[in-house]
Amino acid sequence: MSSTTTSTFTPLSLLPLPDKAQVNDAFVGRSLSSLRTPALVVDRGVFKENCERVTLEAERRGMRFRAHVKTHKTIEGTRLQATASHGVKAFIASTLPEVWSVVQSGLFTEDLANDILYSMPVSADKLEDLNDAQEKIGNKGVLRLMLDHPAQVAAIEGFNARFKRGAWSVFLKVDGGGRRAGAPPESEQMRSLIKACLASSAVDIYGFYSHFGQSYASTSLDKATAYYHSEIECVNAAAKVARSLGANGQFVLSVGATPTAHAATQTPEDSENLQGELELHAGCYCMNDLQQLATTLIDIDACALTVLARVVSVYPLRNEAMCDAGAIAFSKDTGPFPGFGRVVHPDRLTTWDVGRISQEHGTLVHRPGVEEDKIEQIDVGDLVRIVPQHACLVCAAFPWIYVVDGSDEVVDVWIPFKGW
Ligand SMILES: Cc1ncc(COP(=O)(O)O)c(C=O)c1O
Repeated sequence: MSSTTTSTFTPLSLLPLPDKAQVNDAFVGRSLSSLRTPALVVDRGVFKENCERVTLEAERRGMRFRAHVKTHKTIEGTRLQATASHGVKAFIASTLPEVWSVVQSGLFTEDLANDILYSMPVSADKLEDLNDAQEKIGNKGVLRLMLDHPAQVAAIEGFNARFKRGAWSVFLKVDGGGRRAGAPPESEQMRSLIKACLASSAVDIYGFYSHFGQSYASTSLDKATAYYHSEIECVNAAAKVARSLGANGQFVLSVGATPTAHAATQTPEDSENLQGELELHAGCYCMNDLQQLATTLIDIDACALTVLARVVSVYPLRNEAMCDAGAIAFSKDTGPFPGFGRVVHPDRLTTWDVGRISQEHGTLVHRPGVEEDKIEQIDVGDLVRIVPQHACLVCAAFPWIYVVDGSDEVVDVWIPFKGW
């Protein structure tokens, strides 16, 4: 390995994306009914309103906001998160192509971004590329890392010694019961992580970060608010442990998943006696989906994303139909609502669900509970728009996203970053 950092980001150059200009030439101005299905459609106006609503309310409550780009994985979406927002310049990325694309997008030089967090617990193989990204950002902002184990501190020390770089700003990931990444706030793993950070000149603790994925089980504002409060307690507890181990200075306490971010911005702010400044983060909030609808914290007209599909057959004997979007288009994500998607007219649910899926087939079934005489007619050739259970995997599956703005006309095409 060379002893200086590489000037180009090697993996990204091997991940070519469709050319935006060519794709725009082919599709902008066309109506949705002229597109081959399945296709992914985002309403830009709804996306923008979703960003504005959440960040305005966060600002009103005096909270910082950090926007995740993983849901849409596009420059256009990131730019809207920045510009439709109230002072949001901090971002989160979950892959190196996301980091690098945001860094290259011009957002830092235009002063629309000044902070990006690489949110996977970092491994040694990623450090050289992340260091390149920080060099590219230069003095326009900071790239932060996520840690949840002392071995990661040792890997960073090795890297910094080899590449002669200064300390990285790090969030420590707190596991508040979701059992994905992170160490429980008062655990031995958290203590040894904090001690390793305090003893090292390779990292500076910026704050404590929790992602409450379990809050997706909320079915009311009260439940989501309870998750939100436990999330704050858990990052605050970790910060208290850090203080007891000798840490001083101000911490950022970053909390959120879309349900807790919606709860935080729909209830009065009441967090006092915290060991740091509260930051809210979210990703799916810009798109929304059936999982968010099931929390009751949004309405159907806040779902910016739909899968466009065609009815390819009907089966009167079993009261079912078939559409041309299956497991690849919807992912196999499920949620509190049954099935994999709900057919919508522009602003209301119809009586049809995607009940079963295989790779390319989606079986349309009568929504459970809807009386037979209320079932709407569906015919071969019908074009249907379907809200999926969860936006993130769906966006990642499509080569590009058709963008509309309140009508059926394609006004832009967004091309999601791919790969790792
Ligand atoms: C580390 C991290 N932060 C934030 C988010 C955003 O969560 P959501 O999409 O629920 O807003 C995620 C989503 O998985 C995540 O992994």
